[in-house]
Amino acid sequence: MLLSAWNGNTAESAAGPVPPVLDLKAAHRGTPDIDAALLELSKPSESVRAFFAEARQVFGAHPRATVAELPAIRAAAERHGIALLGGPMLGALSPDGARVWVRTVRPAQISVVVQTRDGERLHGPVASSVESDLTAVVPVTGLEPASRHPYRVLVDGVPVPVPVGAAIHTAPATDEPGRMTIAFGADFHKTGLWNRALLDQIRAVNPAALLLLGDNAVDDRDNQVGLHRSDYLLRDLSPAWRDLAGSVPVYVTWDDHDYFNNDRSGVPPGFTAEDRAAVRKVWTQSWNNPSYGFADRGEGIFFRTRIGPCDVIMLDTRFFRTKPRQPDSFLGADQMRWLAEALTACQGPFVILTSATMWSDYVSAGKDSWGVWDPEGRERVLTLIEQRRIGGVLLLSGDRHGARVMRLTRPSGFEFYEFELGSLGAHPGPAAMGKEPGQQLFGVTGESLFGVCTFDTTRDDPSVSVRILDAAGGERYRLTLTRSEMMPSGEPQD
Ligand SMILES: [Fe+2]
Repeated sequence: MLLSAWNGNTAESAAGPVPPVLDLKAAHRGTPDIDAALLELSKPSESVRAFFAEARQVFGAHPRATVAELPAIRAAAERHGIALLGGPMLGALSPDGARVWVRTVRPAQISVVVQTRDGERLHGPVASSVESDLTAVVPVTGLEPASRHPYRVLVDGVPVPVPVGAAIHTAPATDEPGRMTIAFGADFHKTGLWNRALLDQIRAVNPAALLLLGDNAVDDRDNQVGLHRSDYLLRDLSPAWRDLAGSVPVYVTWDDHDYFNNDRSGVPPGFTAEDRAAVRKVWTQSWNNPSYGFADRGEGIFFRTRIGPCDVIMLDTRFFRTKPRQPDSFLGADQMRWLAEALTACQGPFVILTSATMWSDYVSAGKDSWGVWDPEGRERVLTLIEQRRIGGVLLLSGDRHGARVMRLTRPSGFEFYEFELGSLGAHPGPAAMGKEPGQQLFGVTGESLFGVCTFDTTRDDPSVSVRILDAAGGERYRLTLTRSEMMPSGEPQD
């Protein structure tokens, strides 16, 4: 009964009652029983079940510890035959390779063996250590663009299990005409990571990458960084997640629930700058992004990268917040400056610009987002895009549970489009349609939906089709725009 709602089609799961373990409040509580019930959704082996039960208890007893500081985790893994605590998880895709993240049971040397036309090629080894909290990121380079390469992972020279079909599919060369797809969404809230149908459907569209816009795997753990790590361990025991992350590079930003807690930002009341640094450290060790904010200062997790024809800018809309309605109170002055430079430096025909919370104010009147915190800053960002004629910009967001498409009509008449896919966990949210139905092109809540951008640069005027798909593969919405339609006039505004 518990599983049927998730293994069946989305309409059934939307119509039926939500099993208690998939309820959002349960995810927020995240007790050992609730976490164990999530694991149970995948029908784990007895050894995996026993390992997680022991590990969850250890993390609960040491809620501020690292993985490497807890020898009982290693002992439990070795006793139950767990070869890897996490990964392989792909990230940082390029035309000639990707990076492979793993978390090992003990400090080790990790290598990745990649199949090429000329035979197998060894990359690494890279050490996982106590300092890296048993994680290692192995760069794989030198592959041909737009080509598929199965790979294996060796820990101290010994092969470890990787998902069937695990492969690096390199990005197309940036100037090569072609078609490329990027999938996106937000708000798994732990529970969505166990939705096999949804995750398999994301993989089935063969995206070059998956962008996750917050509230992903950790839920309401505040400064209990040991429990952040426990939640990442739970993520990495999800077979559906492993199958996805082993073949589709992921790019990730946080929102309030995987930062600290509901609507929390900056240094939340009752916590310290050291707590914030500790949460950021767990984050940087548990994902596989190309870079993390101002790395030299240990601040923020924003980044810009390039995937085929598309520049991708993922903002950090939590770390730097101060108080609403103060200058740069949402992104911080330094990230705002960085954003202006990042936008100006974009070379591709398309730009994906993400905010973990909504760009527009049509839902919940901008609650916990740009509209309440820094509407002037948002205005400066959108004006910069228009005045510098940065074409092909798509605005993505999450947070308000549901899936929505918004039009942001500017005083100049130029129209931005916002795709808000806070629907990966299928949690009910505010009313599907916001306060400006004339500006909203789509709205659904309580269903497992994800977004897909397919870029086509084979024509003189490149285009992007943005689709919203359900867990059964059904297309629920589509909008196709050409780059010329996405080019601001650059005319001064009133
Ligand atoms: Fe959320």
